[in-house]
Amino acid sequence: MKFTITTIPGDGIGPEITAEAVKVLDAVAAKYGHEFEYHEALMGGVAIDETGNPLPDETLEVAKSSDAVLLGAIGGPKWDTTDPEGVRPEQGLLGIRKALELFANLRPVQVFDALIDSSTLKPDVIRGVDILVVRELTGGLYFGARARENDRAYDTMDYHVYEIERIVRKAFELARGRRKIVHSIDKANVLESSRLWREVTVGIAPDYPDVHLEHMLVDNAAMQIIRHPEQFDVMVTENMFGDILSDEASMLSGSLGMLSSASLGAGHLALYEPSHGSAPKHAGLDRANPIATILSAALMVRYSFELEAEAKAIEGAVEQVLSEGFRTKDIEQEGTTVVGTARMGDLIAERV
Ligand code: IPM
Ligand code: MG
Repeated sequence: MKFTITTIPGDGIGPEITAEAVKVLDAVAAKYGHEFEYHEALMGGVAIDETGNPLPDETLEVAKSSDAVLLGAIGGPKWDTTDPEGVRPEQGLLGIRKALELFANLRPVQVFDALIDSSTLKPDVIRGVDILVVRELTGGLYFGARARENDRAYDTMDYHVYEIERIVRKAFELARGRRKIVHSIDKANVLESSRLWREVTVGIAPDYPDVHLEHMLVDNAAMQIIRHPEQFDVMVTENMFGDILSDEASMLSGSLGMLSSASLGAGHLALYEPSHGSAPKHAGLDRANPIATILSAALMVRYSFELEAEAKAIEGAVEQVLSEGFRTKDIEQEGTTVVGTARMGDLIAERV
């Protein structure tokens, strides 16, 4: 089958890790007889430098005309500013999420057996962990009313019923294909938007009688993730809580460099990106971990192209390379072989 993919390498380590994911996708295409056509587009800091706009119209057009979008990472100190009128790379990322209405961000947290000792947590705590964080991505604090006025500034956590409904339904549906437990994470003891979130969730639950629903306050959830992570199957939460909890949960798998993500929308088009940032300190040094991006490409193949065997081939290749003892610097362990970004991509592509 033929698919067109918009690639947005972005800033920092973005171009390096995107190249490795493309390498692995090409191996999949060759093995299974598919054709992947890539269109590269600008976003983030490079887009600001070249066009003045972190999300050029052309990028959105190219993305909309393709079957899926693969993103590296955006941002860097060069473009950091606290000026309320300033142009920032992140506006590109938030802009594309909003423009494509990608409201459901899926961040799977798995513990690879080979990496069980590279987490900062004890093996007994993380063994068998398999969590899917379902983060609301187009509402809440990220998009609510905000302003800077003299010596005051504010952001607003704003949710409509329909926004809560669609993300919570997504979580219930995804739980059906897993262990059928949903933890809805909120701060209903303090926030009005969380009380609405809880009401809507309780209202939806009867439609999924086969799925067990638990509510948990976000501060408790942050603690439970490192205390007793195997209790979680699907965790659904609003945008900002999901941003924070998914970084925290990534450490269960040993490194933020392992955490993939899929951003799905109301329509057919979806965006795939690692959950980590552009790591400017490591840019151009061939030492970034490309696995989160490669695993994001596997999610693309699964969700957007509906090629399950191909997705499993990528995931299996990652597992194999890790169990053969190859590591990037961030997941280095005694007795393993440290390789660079490109070599890690080669190894995974070869195993595919
Ligand atoms: C993420 C990132 C982004 C976010 C930043 C880069 C705007 O941290 O995807 O988790 O906060 O959503
Ligand atoms: Mg984040």
